[in-house]
Amino acid sequence: MVETELASKGKASFGDANDQAAFNFLGKALYGCLITIWVFFQLGPILTLGLPKIIGEIFLHTFSIPPFLIKRAYNRLYEFFRESSGSILDEAEKMGISREEACHNLLFVTCFNSFGGMKIFFPSMLKWVGQSGVGLHTQLATEIRSAIRSNGGQVTMAAMEQMPLMKSVVYESLRIDPPVVPFQYGKAKKDFTVQSHDNLFEVKAGDMLFGYQPFATKDPIIFEKPEEFLPGRFLGEEGERLLKHVLWSNGPETESPTVGNKQCAGKDFVVMVSRLLVVEIFRRYDSFEVEVGTSALGSSVNLTALKKATF
Ligand code: HEM
Ligand SMILES: *[C@@H]1O[C@H](CO)[C@@H](O)[C@H](O)[C@H]1NC(C)=O
Repeated sequence: MVETELASKGKASFGDANDQAAFNFLGKALYGCLITIWVFFQLGPILTLGLPKIIGEIFLHTFSIPPFLIKRAYNRLYEFFRESSGSILDEAEKMGISREEACHNLLFVTCFNSFGGMKIFFPSMLKWVGQSGVGLHTQLATEIRSAIRSNGGQVTMAAMEQMPLMKSVVYESLRIDPPVVPFQYGKAKKDFTVQSHDNLFEVKAGDMLFGYQPFATKDPIIFEKPEEFLPGRFLGEEGERLLKHVLWSNGPETESPTVGNKQCAGKDFVVMVSRLLVVEIFRRYDSFEVEVGTSALGSSVNLTALKKATF
């Protein structure tokens, strides 16, 4: 799709292809079926129109049905998920969750957390990797293809572990442009102190706290050249020590979501699909060029050149 459009028009929107690929990928990965093009065109515009308005809701996780999603459209989505997720709903019932409630949650997690996340984060990652130029692209293509070759030609989890630069690039994309609302606030439940590099603050129960995430994700005391995209930032032992300061998931990258910590339940899934995107791009292409703008949902990216794999 992208290649044909690029050949005929000289450029191709990454976002359009990304939406369709993300939806099909999620259908196959989570429900073992292909969400057909037909369904995509029925649902795609609804999801796309809805996203900017509910973006706050995604991250507040209020799980209410957004009012602008008219009932009929929501029901069509709901039917699709009910038909596609029989065995998952059986599991839910065994765990004491009603089929109906489980189905609403599956719909939410697939369409808004997963699809929404890929829709916002993938163009942003493509922007940063694209703008880093052919030097980085060659390094990535070399690393990725050699790891695949030494794993019998397959993209496995083990093969991806042998791609340190690719992993660092994904972490750096998540650090520099975390696909979350940057404002965080909450009311203190008890008295405590909070510490910055050079100060200690007393917080009283009931105080309203406000945080601006970029102060942490672009902290110049932690990160060298914080405003720059450094592809190899997380390489090696030094780099690995910085991972605890990668915070997109509402917690350190070195920790895992639990029932008690409000960290993103899809954390590992998000990292995995982001790695897969970079791997698939550089299996297929030696290099690519982008044209970048902004949209309601972050970056808007056109591909203006794709150089097919030559080695
Ligand atoms: C790029 C994609 C994603 C981003 C940026 C993201 C980000 C976040 C953030 C910041 C939170 C914390 C919200 C809060 O303040 O309470 C969160 C929670 C959550 N995320 Fe994600 N998420 C993404 C994808 C996913 C996916 C794919 C899933 C599931 C498959 C998922 C499931 C959840 C759930 C269930 C919670 C609630 C956890 C809790 O409150 O205990 N997310 N996510
Ligand atoms: C992408 O291409 C379309 C069609 O030529 C154009 O309207 C749009 O402004 C371009 N976007 C960027 C970010 O340059």
